[in-house]
Amino acid sequence: MAEAESRQSWGTRLGMILAMAGNAVGLGNFWRFPYQLGKWGGGAFLVPYFAALFLLGIPLMWLEWTMGRHGGMYGHGTEGPMLYLMARTKVSPRSAAVWAGIGGMLALGVTILLNSYYLHIVGWTLGYAYLSATGDYMKSNISTAQYFANYLQNPGLMLTFWIIALLSLGYAVGRGVSGGIEKWASFMMPTLYVIGLILIVRVLTLGAPVKPEWSAIKGLDYIWHPDWSKISFQSALAAAGQIFFTLSLGMGIINNYASYLKPDDDVVLSGFATVGLNEFAEVILGGTIALPVAFAYLGPEGMGSGVGLSFISLPNIFRDMSGGQFFGALWFLLLFFAGWTSAVAMYNYLVALLEEDLKIKRVWASIAIFVVYILAGLPVALEPILTKTSDLAYLTEMDNWIGSYFLVVLGLVEVIVGAWLFVDRKTKKPATWKEMMRGSFWPTLPQWWFTVIMRFVTPTYIIILLVGTTVSYFKQGYIRIVPSFVADKPQLVPWVNMARIALIIVFILGFIEAYYAVRTKYAEEIKQNRVLVEK
Ligand code: TRP
Repeated sequence: MAEAESRQSWGTRLGMILAMAGNAVGLGNFWRFPYQLGKWGGGAFLVPYFAALFLLGIPLMWLEWTMGRHGGMYGHGTEGPMLYLMARTKVSPRSAAVWAGIGGMLALGVTILLNSYYLHIVGWTLGYAYLSATGDYMKSNISTAQYFANYLQNPGLMLTFWIIALLSLGYAVGRGVSGGIEKWASFMMPTLYVIGLILIVRVLTLGAPVKPEWSAIKGLDYIWHPDWSKISFQSALAAAGQIFFTLSLGMGIINNYASYLKPDDDVVLSGFATVGLNEFAEVILGGTIALPVAFAYLGPEGMGSGVGLSFISLPNIFRDMSGGQFFGALWFLLLFFAGWTSAVAMYNYLVALLEEDLKIKRVWASIAIFVVYILAGLPVALEPILTKTSDLAYLTEMDNWIGSYFLVVLGLVEVIVGAWLFVDRKTKKPATWKEMMRGSFWPTLPQWWFTVIMRFVTPTYIIILLVGTTVSYFKQGYIRIVPSFVADKPQLVPWVNMARIALIIVFILGFIEAYYAVRTKYAEEIKQNRVLVEK
């Protein structure tokens, strides 16, 4: 197939790993992880977290790399056709096309809608890096919560940084996988780790600025001392959800990056390296910066600051800290690099979709996606301005479904197709293991591991996670016509409904797109309902 031969690929292995690490290391590591850790009691969160890392995170990471590289051999970089190729080895091509539709629908939902609000957060981080560097919020005497609300309601600031972030992403994606994404990641990722280490040194030398019993070191102790009695089913669910989010699993974007590998490139060690780089950034950097600082200044209460940790509590601390202007700017720059190198993966997924399914040139495709993201992000931009609130109901609703729920559903679809339906067409024996091991730098991984973990433990874990999350959503009142978090704020209800409508529209489009893309590309196969194209 000419298409596959002309497919782009990564420039160097190191650049590829840095881009993959950039994909995984994101706002989830520095913004979501610390407040989850604080909310669920530090150590008590980490125990189920590491369980989920080994039983869910690593197996799924390998599966996505394997699916991606396999799809890339046939010229595909998106979820739908990847699932089709694997499913058709066991079920008929027509049924396989339905799996493609479902996967394509979920992946489009994530890449358009999750990114639509995260691009705003990426914009905020850039804005705050600027406002730290200029010392603006240090000088102002309103509370940092009010300052943040003003930021959101100030179109000049908020829109400018959002658009700068989007333009730079579009530009990089337009330059291509190795010429754009890989180059930027090769600069941003090492810088991010260096900034992280500088901030750690600052945190650990803070001492106890407010009260002798509150020191950054004691904050670390809180995080690393598991209080077993606090471990609950709820904290285990939150931990497993965090693993999905932070490793970028169930989004279609790891598979997309892996599709630019060569057929014999290693996936096992490289996938493992991605997990390692992400966990270093999450547990060591993400865990050592924000929470211990909050502990040193605010005591145990500071650990529960929730979503406001990065944009409200920390700025308040930077006001007091000596050198706060500089360290504040570094902190937000770190968040910006982390968010940017993740957001670019979602951007590239959509560009690959237009390129491969509609044959649109990359540069034009990246301009088109720029417009899509502006439109998809408008509700998030307009809600604070029009309602004069900073509750962000649209974002909350979207994050509840897209950022925490449907990822897991896509993960389940991937395990079913990747570990159960993908078989050798002649012997009908599972083919995943062999596919994954091709070119592996790590040849000793035993096959029983695959059978036990990937085929049984991981899917069971995901199903428990899904059922548990559904029940807890039900109890928290998220599955209501008017969800609980806006029950006493009627003016926000339309924003929640808008999020739901957007979700349904994108899902329908996603299903149709992937289903028909497969039906067109594999028309003959589907007509005869048997496999014809094989490599
Ligand atoms: N793993 C990423 C993270 O930890 C998740 C992610 C992927 C993401 N793409 C994104 C987050 C785009 C924000 C924007 O943050």
